[in-house]
Amino acid sequence: MNSPNTPNQIINNQFALKKKLLAGSYGIVFEAEDLFKKQMVAVKIEKKEKNTTLDREIHILTRLQGTQGVPKLIWSGINNNSTNVLVQQLLTKDIGVYLQEYRKFSLKTVLIITDYLLQVIRRIHNKSVVHRDLKPENIMYHQKQIYIVDFGISKLYRDNNLKHIQFKEGRSFVGTTRYASIAAHKGQELGRKDDLESLIYIDILLLKGLYQLIYLEQRTLPWQNMLGQNNKERQKQVGEKKMKMTPTEICGDLPIEFQKALDYIRSLQYQSDPDYDYLIQLFRKLAQSRKIEYDDIYDWTQQTKQTTPDNQQQEIAIKQIASLQQFERSPRTMQNKCQSLKVASTQDVFQDRKKSLQNNLQLNFQQNQLNRSIQNTYVLSQIANDYDSKQDYFSQDDVSDTLFQRYTQLKSQILQIHHLQNIENQNPNNKICAS
Ligand SMILES: Nc1ncnc2c1ncn2[C@@H]1O[C@H](COP(=O)(O)OP(=O)(O)O)[C@@H](O)[C@H]1O
Ligand SMILES: [Mg+2]
Repeated sequence: MNSPNTPNQIINNQFALKKKLLAGSYGIVFEAEDLFKKQMVAVKIEKKEKNTTLDREIHILTRLQGTQGVPKLIWSGINNNSTNVLVQQLLTKDIGVYLQEYRKFSLKTVLIITDYLLQVIRRIHNKSVVHRDLKPENIMYHQKQIYIVDFGISKLYRDNNLKHIQFKEGRSFVGTTRYASIAAHKGQELGRKDDLESLIYIDILLLKGLYQLIYLEQRTLPWQNMLGQNNKERQKQVGEKKMKMTPTEICGDLPIEFQKALDYIRSLQYQSDPDYDYLIQLFRKLAQSRKIEYDDIYDWTQQTKQTTPDNQQQEIAIKQIASLQQFERSPRTMQNKCQSLKVASTQDVFQDRKKSLQNNLQLNFQQNQLNRSIQNTYVLSQIANDYDSKQDYFSQDDVSDTLFQRYTQLKSQILQIHHLQNIENQNPNNKICAS
């Protein structure tokens, strides 16, 4: 077989790869056609260069078959060049994709997602599996329902006699820094409570929004975009922040139920049986008090997106600037790649703007040009962002130089770009051409 990056291949004489969907840390997922059954499927092929986890995923997924909210396993096997392949039910989109698009979700959408997730998590736990990497990219929407995918680093937390595995410490970090439980940061063996802790962190992020602007810090998950010399350092700092903050501080002005849920989950012991019903009812009562119906209407399935053009523009600007920040935090390799594509860096954009200000007595500010540059960088920053959110599975001592040093510098640049935009907005008649 050629590189798995190239569609037009047929696996096991049955599955014709059509197009690449999103690639995660360990697998590349394709949309494919099952030539026998004439239906579309999702084909996950392990990346050869990675230490494979697809074997493990196939094993766990087999065990979870028949569980509502887990994709159906259609076929698994070894392709002719010995890469593992997993064919599963094709689902619509992951929540991370919607989040990129909508920036944040309404309370209603988050409550519907949470209700589904608590039930799916309970079913998975009942089959002795802990997921260990819950995050928006591993949560999928399909035909009005919510599914959990990616069992690549899942684990059985009890044996066939339902005896819980021993508590252990000194383990490697497992999961994704942003959503990891405190126990994961401490290197402890993970249990059911840890999936639930991640769920609440996901909820907070979905409600507060994906993007952080420096001056709106309090409106995001408190450890979003934290700095550190490298991944390991960042993991440590994020862990410390999670431990230091109380659920009240973490949840801020969200409905008190999220804080109560986190309080409860953090009180659970390693082997405790979580009271899933308590959590489900807690959130259902919240929905009731806000007159929210569980009618499977999500923000993205509503007929009209409820944003005015003005709001939309503002949202786009927020996304773009936040992405610039994220881009500047991406590894040097990624930034080099962007440079080779000859896209102006924020530094260049800023210097340009500064020059035009200095050269003219009158305010000279080419809004469109600036927007274009920001847009270009934004597109590339998506690549970096994608990379950033996918790289984080295990502690990676060897993750090369992350570019946090430039972050502080960029902070001031972005604020100044903002400042320039404000000046421009206040003086719309003052336009002349830049040299
Ligand atoms: N059954 C599926 N149907 C459609 N898309 C899927 C399916 N499973 C995964 N994906 C998409 O592919 C991405 C990567 O798959 P995932 O199983 O999470 O791999 P990885 O272990 O590499 O993270 C997911 O984030 C999701 O967007
Ligand atoms: Mg994944």
